[in-house]
Amino acid sequence: MTQATLSQDQLKEAVAAAAIDEVRPHLHRDSVLGIGTGSTANRFIDRLAELRHDFAGAVASSEASAERLRSHGIEVFELNSVGTVPVYVDGADEVNAHLHMIKGGGAALTREKIVAACAERFICIADGSKKVERLGAFPLPVEVIPMARSYVARELVKLGADPVYREGVVTDNGNQIIDCYDFMIDDPLAMEARLNAIVGVVTNGLFAARGADVLLLGTAGGVERLTPA
Ligand code: A5P
Repeated sequence: MTQATLSQDQLKEAVAAAAIDEVRPHLHRDSVLGIGTGSTANRFIDRLAELRHDFAGAVASSEASAERLRSHGIEVFELNSVGTVPVYVDGADEVNAHLHMIKGGGAALTREKIVAACAERFICIADGSKKVERLGAFPLPVEVIPMARSYVARELVKLGADPVYREGVVTDNGNQIIDCYDFMIDDPLAMEARLNAIVGVVTNGLFAARGADVLLLGTAGGVERLTPA
């Protein structure tokens, strides 16, 4: 198979492998790594399993990732008992040249944002389809307190979004998700703050105030290593 015919799955495998090299300097017997959520993060977890004796354990951004880590014999710590993590590795639904991201396609955005806030370094791993000029073609997830869902949706309409309740989804925090369609974002930093100011919003899927420090992007030509423009 030539590089030009690499599938999305193969690109995810390639960036997961590259992320192992990126975290290797942070592996020592006391280190606790931050681990994200989703299909790309899962591939990273599976590769990390081979190195499980080289570090203390991990903090996970979802119950699903915690379960996968434990299944590989990697100890999962509570974030409150750890403080900061040297590095956080996670995927994205979209990422721009500034390494601002939309995340939360898997509904784990709040815990992802918390672990990212505690990380000294955020490494985003993504296949090439996730790289965009302007964020917003992917519907922006917003986690809401259930009783505030209709109110928040009306506020989102005022901002120009087409909000759709993600039916049947309950987050790890017991909340609900609204996805904002038709919502192209010119200023991710300002919009992240604006959305957070709506009463009833727990968090939103814009990761701009705390973007990624490094993007490992899987392309037909290989894994590109990008830093914020
Ligand atoms: C989880 O809530 C998301 O933020 C994921 O990080 C994001 O959806 C990327 O997922 P994939 O790696 O499965 O594309």
